[in-house]
Amino acid sequence: MTDGVIRAPALVTADGTPPLRGRSLDTVRVVTDGAVAFRDGTVVFAGSAADLPAGLRSLSVTDASGAVLPGFVDCHTHLPFFGWRADEFEARLAGRTYRDLHGGGGIYRSARLMSGASDEEVIEFCRPLTAEMLAHGTTALELKTGYGLSVEAELRQAGLARRLSAAIPQETSVTLLACHAVPEGMSRDAWVDAVCAELIPAIAAEALADAVDVYVEDIAFAVSDLERVAASALEHGLWVRCHADQLGPSGAAAAAVALGARSADHLNHAGAASVRALGDARGTVATLLPVSTLFIGAERPPVQDLLAAGAAVALATDFNAGTSPCLSMPEAIAVAAALYRIPTLTAVAAATTNAAWVLGLHDRHGSLQPGTRADFVVLDTEDPAMIAYRPGHNPVSETWIGGQRVWTRA
Ligand code: NIG
Ligand code: FE
Repeated sequence: MTDGVIRAPALVTADGTPPLRGRSLDTVRVVTDGAVAFRDGTVVFAGSAADLPAGLRSLSVTDASGAVLPGFVDCHTHLPFFGWRADEFEARLAGRTYRDLHGGGGIYRSARLMSGASDEEVIEFCRPLTAEMLAHGTTALELKTGYGLSVEAELRQAGLARRLSAAIPQETSVTLLACHAVPEGMSRDAWVDAVCAELIPAIAAEALADAVDVYVEDIAFAVSDLERVAASALEHGLWVRCHADQLGPSGAAAAAVALGARSADHLNHAGAASVRALGDARGTVATLLPVSTLFIGAERPPVQDLLAAGAAVALATDFNAGTSPCLSMPEAIAVAAALYRIPTLTAVAAATTNAAWVLGLHDRHGSLQPGTRADFVVLDTEDPAMIAYRPGHNPVSETWIGGQRVWTRA
């Protein structure tokens, strides 16, 4: 059914043009006795059921027993990856740190696991994970490279991302995480040279990615590398994103804003200058990844300062085998609420409309209004506050994409 109406006791949607900035994220609307009407999978009406235009009243109606909200957009994941690293988590519980597991383990380990797997094995590993995401209400997501660590292997991973994308119902955006770890046996400069001269042009020529990301950290790349990679990305028509100030302060978030990056992500150690830059930024979203903060025991980012400064904030899972083996957007919202003191509806807007903007998918995703795709979730409760209130519980009872129910809780 791609034509129809869904009626709900509560309809949650964010008004305004994304990215919603600072406290304007609080303008999320909860319509009591709401309705969403769609034709050919596209929303033609969203609002109070009483206001449903006469011309749409002949459409077949589904009554939802719980709240309806836009499908979640997971704007920061590290899929496709292959294999888990639970032993590294155990090692951290015994006192090791993410930083000291990096040499030989961490990203390098995921790269080795990836290179040892066939294309089919990688896709078979990832498919059930994206299905699990669907069951948690994710209707659009980012796919990323970064476990290739050579030009050839990065191109392979980007190709696998496109292949995975074609095999799943969710829409995706692919990011080339060109600089994630310095390849073994190579200098940082030599890798950045190869990224700018070979990898980015090859990715752009084959339209394999939409954005380019750099992990700026003392164990990875420097702000000067971000600047070089950003110049090459922009020259090739690709957006810039940045893993910024996660383990320590580097000034990466402020640099990302200056470079016109689409997002600066993590921000655990963003200082006052970065907060000001993100507050004043017109096009750079501050992407928060609270489960990775929790999981590696990192410092909390200055979330309240960011909101007060007027930054546009997005929320995502950072799903990966190292810092955040969590693929649930409801869980990310719950952790953001408890750890960062973000009200549930603010977190929902960050996880939908602003997240869609980060991926450049906001025309069709992240909100329910005429023209967007009829992607929504039905909760098992009328009260959206329950999303944050019950961590560990999946509150999604149905997921719809393009006006079709694609997942129902058994
Ligand atoms: O976003 N720390 C950098 N990158 C990832 C983790 C990657 C990994 O450990 O495999 C992150 O946290
Ligand atoms: Fe990440």
